[in-house]
Amino acid sequence: MVAPHFVMTWPSAFEVTYAINPWMDPKRWHQNADELRGSAALCWQKLNDRLRAAGARVHMLDPVPGLPDLVFPANGAVVLDSRALLGRFANPERQREEPVFLRFFEGLLHQGVVKELGRLPENLIQEGAGDCLWDACRGIFWAGHGPRSSSGSAAVVADFFSCEVQPLGLVDPRFYHLDLAFCVLEGGEILYCPAAFDPVSLGLIRERVPLDRRLEMGVDEALRFSLNALCFNGAVFTTSPGPDLAARLRERGYRLCDLDLSPFLLAGGGAASLTLRLDHCMG
Ligand code: ARG
Repeated sequence: MVAPHFVMTWPSAFEVTYAINPWMDPKRWHQNADELRGSAALCWQKLNDRLRAAGARVHMLDPVPGLPDLVFPANGAVVLDSRALLGRFANPERQREEPVFLRFFEGLLHQGVVKELGRLPENLIQEGAGDCLWDACRGIFWAGHGPRSSSGSAAVVADFFSCEVQPLGLVDPRFYHLDLAFCVLEGGEILYCPAAFDPVSLGLIRERVPLDRRLEMGVDEALRFSLNALCFNGAVFTTSPGPDLAARLRERGYRLCDLDLSPFLLAGGGAASLTLRLDHCMG
């Protein structure tokens, strides 16, 4: 059994105060803010409990008042082989998180959890693991670009980690990060929504991943945030998977952990977004 390491941020500063993706509606949040805040704490705690119960170790990144999206550490960095490439955000609302992630990763460096930190050139955007998913079976990163990360960032990731990066163009503003429409499962299956990708990228996915390893899902499924999932030790941690997805995952031998993450969906993130995995490695 592997003991994955994740970063998570307690949601005390989480709320929807601005809109930088089609899911965010500050007015709607504020109509029901107290209840949503309470339920966000419960949902987050449940996710944290379930990950720990499945063998994960969680490093806590302290929340910062005024930085509501810090609850989504997936966007803070790309980490492989204990080396972290710090993210750079597209929107000013989230650029304010950059110094927080820098300090946090300097702390991890000090503790020996990571052994090297890298920075992106200033003219490039790269929103961390939200747009850069490690595929241990193929030994490559899949990297999303378009709505947030710049297409040029794939080459920087490839260079920093000395590994192959397969860029994928995202075309639907509702799936503005790769991890909303694409998920690498432990057995090497790729769970994804074809409609989220440009035709060339779609062709590349289908070329690189054999038919029996491709779990193609429709837009309706991806809109549930069920593809924004985590997979380790034979379990898939997700939110509200539809019956077809649930059946297909079970058919492949995965246990399903279905979590209520509804308050976080209002900010445009699910299970994968709420975590950043630190222990991926090439070997
Ligand atoms: N509100 C956040 C944003 O728009 C949500 C981030 C979701 N993260 C992810 N990895 N998909 O940036």
